[in-house]
Amino acid sequence: MTPFERLAEKERLAEVGGGEQRLARQHEAGKLTARERMELLFDPGTFEEVDKLVTHRCRDFGMDQHVIPGDGVVTGHGRVDGRVVYAFAQDFTVFGGSLSETNAAKICKVMDMAARTGSAIVGLNDSGGARIQEGVVSLGGYADIFLRNTLASGVVPQISAIMGPCAGGAVYSPAITDFTIMVRETSYMFVTGPDVIKTVTHEDVSKEALGGAMTHNEKSGVAHFAVDDDHECLALIRELLSFMPGNNLDDPPRKSSDDPADRENESLDGLVPASPHQPYDMLDLIQTVADDGFFLEVHQHFAKNIVVGFARLGGRPVGIVANQPAFLAGTLDIDASVKGARFVRFCDAFNIPLVTFEDVPGFLPGTVQEYGGIIRHGAKLLYAFAEATVPKVTVITRKAYGGAYCVMASKHIRTDFNYAWPTAEIAVMGAEGAVNILYKREIEKAADPAAMRAQKVAEFREKFANPYIAAEKGFVDEVIRPRATRTKLIQALATLDGKRDRNPPKKHGNIPL
Ligand code: HXC
Repeated sequence: MTPFERLAEKERLAEVGGGEQRLARQHEAGKLTARERMELLFDPGTFEEVDKLVTHRCRDFGMDQHVIPGDGVVTGHGRVDGRVVYAFAQDFTVFGGSLSETNAAKICKVMDMAARTGSAIVGLNDSGGARIQEGVVSLGGYADIFLRNTLASGVVPQISAIMGPCAGGAVYSPAITDFTIMVRETSYMFVTGPDVIKTVTHEDVSKEALGGAMTHNEKSGVAHFAVDDDHECLALIRELLSFMPGNNLDDPPRKSSDDPADRENESLDGLVPASPHQPYDMLDLIQTVADDGFFLEVHQHFAKNIVVGFARLGGRPVGIVANQPAFLAGTLDIDASVKGARFVRFCDAFNIPLVTFEDVPGFLPGTVQEYGGIIRHGAKLLYAFAEATVPKVTVITRKAYGGAYCVMASKHIRTDFNYAWPTAEIAVMGAEGAVNILYKREIEKAADPAAMRAQKVAEFREKFANPYIAAEKGFVDEVIRPRATRTKLIQALATLDGKRDRNPPKKHGNIPL
């Protein structure tokens, strides 16, 4: 064999992974192979593999008879829209993509390179977990990855895709990363599987119900996106990356658009219904003001009473946080607070300005919320908005009541520009609740209690259900016409381009977890 033939043979062995049969099984299961996934993730022809010839070192359980170059994970770097991105893709055809000492070292190597060069890291997970034959060495490999996920958090964006099994302690790597995408029907995540659950709690639950894509998108909030197949998953990762810089020192990439910055939309003048009890869809506002109407919603299926996601305004990527009056009347509950807080902190870490659309009647009342710790969880959103130093712009479209007024990027917690529509209502509480407390005795004694209550409610609304007291105090910088919202936001963001703000020096804050 010539040296070149020897190299070709080694490369062939790596590329065939667990063999033709297992590759075919991967396709039959509706999944692409690790290398096919890498090719689709990166700009065509830019993927460069590293450590293709790494093998495991296990001599137990006959493993020395089974040595496959690459050892169950494909690692390397390439370009996404021209920018360098590092990635690893677990290869389920090789020992079920299980994590060995050397396989973990390969993943750690690309994570280290990503952090050192200030580039995003993408993990494509498809694995049976710790390599059973290697025991604690494999567990150590997981811990090495978790440490790197933690140290890279807030330094380079980290995206995880779950494209097959991801079980046991292995779930904690995606859990630390910034965004998790799950493929419907082929992926699942759980700490303990159905069999263990059956033994311990006697519950009967399928893998899909326990940890499938929609379970984690709708119920647990562990996953941020659900996609139909591998192709959609990889295209989504590319889209997501287009909104973020490679690291915390760079600005996010701008994308020019033909959508005029001074585009006005008369339809917005009629968006807020006349009755304060009538809902409307906040997505209509977001899509109307965004460049080309494009909004990449994050956590679309979870805590729908708050909407978060990415858009561009005048070419600048922004993170949008918006109450959703069409769901639970836009109240803040535990899930919405946690969802919003995590998104705000991501944007703040990566220099992505925050645009907040506010229509919030308050926190969701009830024992479920109080016992669940809405005090602690609601504080997360408040803390996240307050500590954020990126440009912050808020538009109050309708209700801004009580503590939720303070939380939703109010002027008092360092928001740069606060706008209100003429339909805004800013008060300590809604008119009905206020009247019941302030005029309880007078109403009880009145000849016609219902008429008196109605009169007091009308008086209260007239006095407080508007933006003018806040505007007089300077808590609102300007009352704007809804149709001009896009123009105002783009001007505000341009004005804030040079914003430099800092928090006091500290090791780290103590956000109420
Ligand atoms: C070594 C493994 C493996 C593992 C799968 N394989 N998991 N090899 N270590 N953890 C191998 C199988 O032997 C098989 O080899 C091939 O991968 C494909 O597996 P199948 O079982 O045939 O595939 P499938 O039916 O699709 O089932 C996939 C699976 C199942 C559900 C993932 O393999 C499974 O339950 N594996 C064990 C999962 C697990 O308990 N892992 C440890 C979790 S604890 P052949 O040669 O037949 O193709 C953990 C701790 C992490 O991970 C700690 C972090 C702190």
